[in-house]
Amino acid sequence: MCGIIGYTTRKNNSVEVALNGLKNLEYRGYDSSGIAFFDGQNVDIVKSKGKISNLDEKLATMNTDSCCAIAHTRWATHGEPNETNAHPHHVGDVTLVHNGIIENYAELKEELISKGYTFQSETDTEVATAYLDYCYKQTGDKLKALVEATKGLRGSYAFDVIYNDEPATIYATRKDSPLVIGYAHDGNFAASDISAILNYTNKYSLINEGEFVKITRDIVTFYDSDLNEIEKKSQTASWDAAQYQKNGYDHFMLKEIYEQPKAIAGIFDRYYTNCTYSDIDFKSFDKIHIVACGSAMHAALVGKYLLQTYGKIPVMVEVASEYRYNEELITPSTLLIVVSQSGETADTIAALRLAKEKGAYVVGIVNAVGSTISREVDKCIYTYAGPEIAVATTKGYTTQVAVFSTLALMAMKQNGVLTDEKAQEIKEDLLSIESKLQNVIDNRDLYLDIAKDIYTHNDVFFIGRGIDSAVCMEGSLKLKEISYTHSESYSAGELKHGTISLIEEGTPVISIATDEKLYEKTVSNIKETKARGSFSIFVTTDMHKDQCSEFSDKLVVLPKTTDFTEPILTVAALQLIAYETAKLRGCDIDKPRNLAKSVTVE
Ligand code: F6R
Repeated sequence: MCGIIGYTTRKNNSVEVALNGLKNLEYRGYDSSGIAFFDGQNVDIVKSKGKISNLDEKLATMNTDSCCAIAHTRWATHGEPNETNAHPHHVGDVTLVHNGIIENYAELKEELISKGYTFQSETDTEVATAYLDYCYKQTGDKLKALVEATKGLRGSYAFDVIYNDEPATIYATRKDSPLVIGYAHDGNFAASDISAILNYTNKYSLINEGEFVKITRDIVTFYDSDLNEIEKKSQTASWDAAQYQKNGYDHFMLKEIYEQPKAIAGIFDRYYTNCTYSDIDFKSFDKIHIVACGSAMHAALVGKYLLQTYGKIPVMVEVASEYRYNEELITPSTLLIVVSQSGETADTIAALRLAKEKGAYVVGIVNAVGSTISREVDKCIYTYAGPEIAVATTKGYTTQVAVFSTLALMAMKQNGVLTDEKAQEIKEDLLSIESKLQNVIDNRDLYLDIAKDIYTHNDVFFIGRGIDSAVCMEGSLKLKEISYTHSESYSAGELKHGTISLIEEGTPVISIATDEKLYEKTVSNIKETKARGSFSIFVTTDMHKDQCSEFSDKLVVLPKTTDFTEPILTVAALQLIAYETAKLRGCDIDKPRNLAKSVTVE
């Protein structure tokens, strides 16, 4: 979603630095961009639709020497992506960039029109800018104006603001949208996330909700909502700028797929070999809810299967956007597990806040260190996958699944159902995952071959049972989000209850059968689709590789492991089928249309 960066410096290069920062925020998703900079006399604003390179081209024709700039990538919510709606917005004495949504903008707009304000854009942000200008005119004080304005705004926001009469100083605040303050050698930053500033500094502080910041090139001062100065410690980011490069891979997505073997081995080493989460006592809760969005919710479905089947604990999984309005489900004896790669997903944050209000204990499975979710949960289990830049998650998802495997194993121990023999089998499985996963990923020619069979089709179906059904959902999402191929995922036994009417001659059906108990049932369902003309792509384990020619046109063979790792092997194959299909279709793989990496609005 929108990315913001503000930089004020002792040098004259704030535009160049802010633009570099914007480029590092591109992964969040955007459709227009803009920058405001102080040219020594005035605040100039330049905006452009589409890629940041368009903005770059416009700036190349201007003198951009400047000691202070605020810049923005916009992911359209209110009004189409065009230059008028792009940020920064300027009204009266105020210029600002905003990440978030102002929910009461319509009523504020009417009020401001009645006071004589006029508006050019369709955005909620221009209304917030006018409102801040109004508050500034009322209070005559820049920080007080910001405090007053935020009292009148409903919704989410991270703001970088400059005032006409102090254009080398940035004022910032946030609510429900992320913002970090960075300290560099030549100046200071306020940006959506650390990736925007890592080329210049790894020292940063986080702003809490209800805090306000005044940033000059020499000093950063934090205030509470009564404008008392507060002390803030700086932190050092463990991620570095090199992790934000493609390092020779064609796409970030491919690089991140290849990073999975190490990341998964790291999880098992950290959380299984060396630690058992002894502080989570499953028996002390009467129910477990797992809540997340998108792929993280798909990881939760694998988690549910493992915790229920092996840990013998009933689990409910719900998408966060629904759960957040379902408060009657939550009691003080609920264990809520929230799952989020970014740690900033608005619906997931709302769900966790609701559960905390209701007295539930909340565990987070989170990748981004220091993110809102990681800070607000009672216990955070980090996935340590490193920065994920491709919009479509890969290592983010598989590391979440790996954490669920370790949680299920702990539940088994606590419930006394982990026999020594089973423990040994699983241990061997976890210890050998790195090389097995590497082999699955290295089978690239096969995935390209399969992609050639499906890339001209408009519809693809994924079917599987049990744990495979959960993995199908993720495989299907990967294919549709990056290759724009319509695809649906069904429990294999469910297809015949309606959807099978869509199968016709040549329709690709990707079926997964790694679960021994359900293998024959799934095969029957595959044969039902074959009988109706489907093109059958079959994903199974090496136990069955010689028995499937009758019903599979293409075969993916995975090493047979346990359910604690098999979903990770399976999904890696599906990630690469989606990747190769998207490549053949000429799609923008790392930045699929309409999508945002970090979904910070409801
Ligand atoms: C799909 C994808 C999304 C995210 C979802 C939740 O590839 O990345 O479906 O999984 O938006 O994001 P996080 O995990 O950051 O909460």
